[in-house]
Amino acid sequence: MNLDTLVRQNVRDLKPYSSARDDFQGVAQVYLDANENPNPSAYNRYPDPFQRELKKHIGLIKGVDPKNIFLGNGSDEPIDLLFRAFCEPSIDNVVIPQPTYGMYAVSANINNVKIKSSPLTEDFDLDVNSILTTIDSNSKLLFLCSPNNPSGNLLSRQKVVDLLKVFSGLVILDEAYIDFAGTESYATMLQEYHNLVVLQTLSKAWGLAAIRLGMCFAHEGVIDILNKIKPPYNISILTQQVALAQLDHEARKNQWVAEIVRERNKISAALAALPVVLHVFPSDANFLLVKVRNAKEVYQKLIRAGIVVRDRSSVILCDDCLRITIGTPEENQKLLSGLNATNGL
Ligand SMILES: Cc1ncc(COP(=O)(O)O)c(C=O)c1O
Repeated sequence: MNLDTLVRQNVRDLKPYSSARDDFQGVAQVYLDANENPNPSAYNRYPDPFQRELKKHIGLIKGVDPKNIFLGNGSDEPIDLLFRAFCEPSIDNVVIPQPTYGMYAVSANINNVKIKSSPLTEDFDLDVNSILTTIDSNSKLLFLCSPNNPSGNLLSRQKVVDLLKVFSGLVILDEAYIDFAGTESYATMLQEYHNLVVLQTLSKAWGLAAIRLGMCFAHEGVIDILNKIKPPYNISILTQQVALAQLDHEARKNQWVAEIVRERNKISAALAALPVVLHVFPSDANFLLVKVRNAKEVYQKLIRAGIVVRDRSSVILCDDCLRITIGTPEENQKLLSGLNATNGL
């Protein structure tokens, strides 16, 4: 991979904005450099634009050097920045195996970047040959989601590695649901594959969807480019503080994950036994993709019972499928009762 030719020329040549906190990084007695309000409050100062303390903690937990970490306003921010950094609008394209998380395509459309779709196999794994024939010399990003949303399964590791070896653009590996899968993160391969970009988030296993903190692990050169184009203070001090406090409770996170995985396996078996359910797809995530008799009617009946799931029946390979998040044991019981009441469908 040659980063110099991969990055957009205007980004390569860009002189980035330099914030007051970039220009002076030491400790001073008097700060008159950032046009802040001098009257003391917990929040009158701009936050660290590079979130050094938080990256140190995340680095220790994830086994990733802080220089290989970029933090964003949810994973959605690095996804968008990758388009802006590497894809020349209306010239370059990105490859997206479908079905998968919808934001890759939305970000592509916002940035006026062509999408080359390639279907996953019937069991939602990668079709490497189809992807390879889809790629051309303008393909800059390849989006892989493992465990995949909405199917819930891990992609085959060997196939991912095969693609990492041959693709000359960046392979974006979205691991939003990795904690529920019990497998090693691809972040361990960053030194080996410089075209690998791993996305994780605090929104799922860590229970912090509201604070918006996405993590991006990549080669230092890629991280430098993302830092160059990001808004100067993209992570608020509130988010940094709450994230730091939560990261001190890894054992609690692991307990939540264990309970959700236990419930997932229990609910998967219980769902499979219901007459309205035609198939429960195997899941390595905190949700299940479930094929039912007449998804739209089942969805509406559940809504009337006060239970909201996600209707994915219009998505490729997901005919009559609902995506159901694993809730608390009580919530899952309500779901099963609600579905039982749809027996007549
Ligand atoms: C695969 C995948 N990636 C990323 C996200 C969003 O993550 P964040 O909340 O960090 O923006 C989601 C949310 O559902 C997702 O399913």
